[in-house]
Formats: sequence, structure tokens, C-alpha cells
Amino acid sequence: MGNTKNNTELTLQNFVMIGPQGSGKGTQAMFLTKTYNLQHLSSGNLLRQISTIPSPLGQKIKNLIDNGILVPDELLIEVFHNELQASDRTRGLLIDGTPRTLKQTQILDQIFAKENLALPKAININISRQSAIDRLTKRHTCTKCQTPYLPSDISSTTGICEQCGGNVVIRSDDNIEAITQRLDSYYKETEPILDYYEKSSRLIKINGEQSIEDVSAEIKKAIEND
Ligand code: AP5
Repeated sequence: MGNTKNNTELTLQNFVMIGPQGSGKGTQAMFLTKTYNLQHLSSGNLLRQISTIPSPLGQKIKNLIDNGILVPDELLIEVFHNELQASDRTRGLLIDGTPRTLKQTQILDQIFAKENLALPKAININISRQSAIDRLTKRHTCTKCQTPYLPSDISSTTGICEQCGGNVVIRSDDNIEAITQRLDSYYKETEPILDYYEKSSRLIKINGEQSIEDVSAEIKKAIEND
């Protein structure tokens, strides 16, 4: 086991979060960015913002997201590269939702190398397909800051986000057809990229079938001792 790292050392590391839809990537990203002062880059949030712009590109992305279909690799990389170039170089990055294909994984590493950034480690949160479906069919989300809520949370009941005051609604892709499509795509296109990270000793495996607090604690322990 390596030495335990302090917060400053972790602040300068880069991570990607990989896991089935509903595994808690967004939930844990909120915890990790606060704990280690990382910058959070979520491809889903970014694409949802673009999808609200009244333009052919916005409409194209909205149609893909609403049907649970992946945005083409070239488009995703273009959007993402712009965000990376504009990022704050004094803080590490926590990327949630990308990469999802082997091509995205390889291009992301090339971009990191070109931008002189440390290659990201992958935090893989795993849950069963059934747990993913159970969680997503019950999830409520803030349209403004994208915070996810359980039905039992006060923000789901009031419809007002306790983080930012935005509207808390059911996401347009949290219906069973789009959820099934997204999960099928995860197991076919995304799960195989875990091998890529394992082979380069950059894979951190986390059991997502625990309470939110226990998942956070497992990730904290794993990355501080990695
Ligand atoms: P994206 O926004 O990334 O959505 P997703 O893939 O469906 O993932 P989720 O946000 O739904 O899951 P999550 O793991 O963050 O779960 P959460 O923390 O909310 O992408 C949307 C779309 O954008 C894609 O379908 C695609 O079209 C496009 N896209 C994005 N990136 C792309 C890319 N790289 N390439 C191509 N296209 C791309 O948790 C879920 C629920 O469970 C919440 O209610 C939460 O409160 C609850 N919960 C969390 N943890 C626990 C726990 N431990 N126990 C109990 N409940 C929990």
C-alpha cells in the first residue's frame, strides 16, 4: 500500500468517473469536488446546457439525450476539448460521464498529454442493472445545478432545489425506454474500457451498492492510499 496523500496532492490529480447510469457518479462528484477542491466537468450537464440553446445543434443533442443515445464521439470530443482548454490549471479535474467508448478514452488521454495534464485515474462505481433502474425511475433532478435527489428528499417534495433554488423535476431521459437504451449502451460500449484503465494501472474499483456516505468513504480511502 502507498503512502496516504494529503488534500493538496489530490487537488492536483485528475480523475474520470465510470459506472452504470444511476451508480452515483454525479452524487459522488459533488462530494469529491468539495472535499479535494477539484473542478467538476460533467459531459451530461454540459450537453444538457447546449440542448437548451435554440439551434440545429441544440435540437440534435436534445433528441439524442431524450432517447438515451450517445452523442457522436467527434462532437463530444470537440465540445469537451474546448472545456478542458478553458479549465483552471491550478486544480485537478474530476470528469463525470466521459469517456464512454474506447475511442473517447484514447482521445481523452491524447488531449491530456497534449495539454500537459496528468493522465486521469478512473474511479469505477459499480451497481447492478436492477439497482440502476430502481434509482433512475425514482430520481428527481434540479434543472439549474443538476443536483440529483431521491423522492424522500425535501427538494423532491417541494420541487425547489435546496442547493440553488432551481426547479426540481424528473429528467426527460429518466423514463424506462431511455434508461434501458442507456444501460444497454453502457454494458456494450463503456464497460469494456475498464480493461484499458486496468492495464495501465489507473483503475480504482468501488462498490456502489452501499449508502451514499459509505460509497464516499470507500472512494476517499481508495484515492488517498492509491
Ligand atoms: P449523463 O448526464 O451522464 O447521464 P447518465 O449517463 O444517465 O448518468 P446519470 O447522471 O443518470 O447517473 P449518475 O451515475 O450520475 O447517478 P446519480 O448520482 O444521479 O448523460 C446524459 C446523456 O448525455 C447520455 O445519455 C448521452 O446522450 C449524453 N452523453 C453524456 N456524456 C456522453 C459521452 N461521453 N459520449 C456521448 N454521449 C454522452 O444517482 C442516481 C440516483 O440515485 C439519484 O437519485 C441519487 O440520489 C441516488 N443515489 C446515488 N447514490 C446512491 C446510493 N449509494 N444509494 C442509494 N441511492 C443513491
